[in-house]
Amino acid sequence: MSTHTPALQALDHHDDAEQLAQQAREAADEAQVGWEQFERLIAEDMRVEPRDWMPADYRKTLVRQISQHAHSEIIGMQPEGNWITRAPSLKRKAVLMAKVQDEAGHGLYLYSAAETLGTPRDEVLDQLYSGRAKYSSIFNYPARTWADVGAIGWLVDGAAITNQVPLCRASYGPYGRAMVRICKEESFHQRQGWEILYALSHGTEAQKQMAQDAVNRTYGPALQMFGPPDDESPNSQQSMAWNIKRFSNDELRQRFVDMIVPQAEALGLTLPDPDLKWNEERGHYDYGALDWDEFFAVIKGEGPLNHQRLAHYRRARDEGAWVREAAAAYAAKQAQRRSAEETLLSA
Ligand SMILES: [Fe+2]
Ligand SMILES: [Fe+2]
Repeated sequence: MSTHTPALQALDHHDDAEQLAQQAREAADEAQVGWEQFERLIAEDMRVEPRDWMPADYRKTLVRQISQHAHSEIIGMQPEGNWITRAPSLKRKAVLMAKVQDEAGHGLYLYSAAETLGTPRDEVLDQLYSGRAKYSSIFNYPARTWADVGAIGWLVDGAAITNQVPLCRASYGPYGRAMVRICKEESFHQRQGWEILYALSHGTEAQKQMAQDAVNRTYGPALQMFGPPDDESPNSQQSMAWNIKRFSNDELRQRFVDMIVPQAEALGLTLPDPDLKWNEERGHYDYGALDWDEFFAVIKGEGPLNHQRLAHYRRARDEGAWVREAAAAYAAKQAQRRSAEETLLSA
C-alpha cells in the first residue's frame, strides 16, 4: 500500500507516464537508426550480420529460404544414398559416400545460419518432421538406375551451383559465407555426375541408353529447380531488392540451359526438348515450355515419392533420438563438472 497522499500519487503516475513515453521515444529512435543503417548496408552492397538491426520481413524471408535450402540438402541425400550399397565399384562407392556426406554437411551449415537469425534448430527440424516445411521438389522423384546418380550430379547439382554461386554474395553474412564452401563442394558433385554419364555413354549400347533415359527423366524437373517463371514468383522482387537474390528465376534457368547444352554434346547425349535451339538474336538457347502443373502438384505433396521421403526422414530422426539425448546428457554433465571445478578453484 502506498503511503503517498493522492497528490503525490498523481505525481508518481505522471513520472511513470513520462518515463514510458521517453522509453518509447528512445526505442523509435533506435529503430530509425537501425533502419537507416540497414538501408545503407544494402545500398552499398555490404553484409548484414546477426547483431545488426534488420526488418522483420527480411529476417522472415531469410529463415524461410535458408531452412528450405537446408531441408533440400537433407532430403536430397535419400535418392543417392539408396545407391551407395549398389555402386558399381569400390571407387564409385567411396566417391558417392563422400558426396552424400557433403550434402549432410551443407544441411548443417545452413541450419546453423538459420539459428543466427534467432530460430532454434529444433523449430525448423520440427517443421520438416511434421510435413509443414517445403524442400526442393526434385527430390521427390525416384533414382531408378545407376545412371540417375550421374544425372542427379550433372543436372541437379549443376542447377544448384547455378542458383547458389550468386548467393555467395547474399547480403546476409552467415548465409553468403556458408554458400562459398557449399559451392566448392557442389562443383565437385557436378563433375562426378558428368563423369558417371560420360563413362556410361561411352560404354555398351545398353549403358548409353540407360544414361539417356536418366537424362530424359531429370532434365525437366532440374529446370524447374529455379522456381516458377518470373511473373508467377511474387517474393523474388523483394529478395532482389534486399540483395539476397541477384538474378531472377528465368535468368538463372537461361544461364543453366546455356551451360548444359554444350556439356550434353560433349557427353554424346541429347536433351529431351524438341524446342531447344540457339537463338542468334538473343545470344541464348531457346527452350520449350515446362510442365508447371506437375511442378505445383509435387510441391503440394503429390510427387511420386513425397510420402516415402518424409517417412524415411521421420524414421531416421526417431531412431537417432537416443544419440541426441545421450550427447545432450553428456554435454550437461561436462558443464556441471566444469562449474563445480570452477567453484572449488575460486573458493
Ligand atoms: Fe549440397
Ligand atoms: Fe551437391
